[in-house]
Amino acid sequence: MLEALAKLLNNAKEEIDKAVNLKELNDLRVKYLGKKGPVTEIMKQMSKLPADEKPLVGAKANEVRTALTEKITKKEAILEEEAISKQLLQEKIDVTLPGTKVKKGVAHLLTQVIEEMENLFISMGYKIAEGPEVELDYYNFEALNLPQGHPARDMQDSFYITENTLLRTQTSPVQARTMEKHDFKDGPIKIICPGKVYRRDNDDATHSHQFTQIEGLVVGENITFADLKGTLTVLAKTMFGEEREIRLRPSFFPFTEPSVEMDISCFKCGGEGCRVCKGTGWIEILGAGMVHPNVLEMSGIDSKIYSGFAFGLGPERVAMLKYAVDDIRHLYTNDLRFLNQFSVKETGEN
Ligand code: DAH
Repeated sequence: MLEALAKLLNNAKEEIDKAVNLKELNDLRVKYLGKKGPVTEIMKQMSKLPADEKPLVGAKANEVRTALTEKITKKEAILEEEAISKQLLQEKIDVTLPGTKVKKGVAHLLTQVIEEMENLFISMGYKIAEGPEVELDYYNFEALNLPQGHPARDMQDSFYITENTLLRTQTSPVQARTMEKHDFKDGPIKIICPGKVYRRDNDDATHSHQFTQIEGLVVGENITFADLKGTLTVLAKTMFGEEREIRLRPSFFPFTEPSVEMDISCFKCGGEGCRVCKGTGWIEILGAGMVHPNVLEMSGIDSKIYSGFAFGLGPERVAMLKYAVDDIRHLYTNDLRFLNQFSVKETGEN
């Protein structure tokens, strides 16, 4: 038995030396030292040995077990270290290699136009106001001097959700919402409200069931038509060039009195007449007027003390005119070949 143990130790040592990975080593541990392994087996058979041989064989068996355990532990440490350096080698990165370019998105043309106008009005002390796109009939129409059954409601075909709620057809309801909660102790109202609006229109090159508007509203003491005209002139010059002139034509909106439509002198031909201005020298840009006293009163503002002006324009129209876009659908179909023409340098690829 002693001989068998010595042979076992030699065989095991040889095999352990040959193990190339932790899995193989663990298999050997089970094979030699496991419950069904030869060392355990010899220990079990010791009871059958004559009494004088027992201590010798027992001591040898223990020696073999200890020697193997030590050998395996040492080999384990070596294999672990090997595995780690192999992994480190695989994970090595060359930090001097050039990085992959990250393509950043750019602001949509419409966003650019809206932000340009926002910046202008913010520089004149306006605040940006917002309102819900799912709006109450009250704010979209009634509070704007368009009671139930008013014929002017037909000017804007609406998507009703319930009898009293609809997708707002204009950003004008934000006027009423702002006036209702305003306290003149904080100064006059000076807001613009950019946002989406919805109409039951068939989509074509110039119509869309969903588009954007920018509403403007100023209410305070002694606000006059001259203030409106001055503001619109600055807007026209900023968006379409310093040489632009404006022309105000009488018009009708239920929420303003008097109401006007504003034209700008054609930026293409300078007023001589061309395709862009359809030969007239003028291009229609927006609707505006002095806030109707009824609208002020309905929102709790005393029309004997306060007066104001309002205007509403379509950023799509501004973008289309400014950048000669011939189809409004280009602004929402997200064709990159179109959109990439308007990538601004600061936000472009880096
Ligand atoms: N809400 C009008 C529209 O959608 C545009 C408009 C006209 C807004 C005159 C105004 C305004 O604030 O004064 O057709």
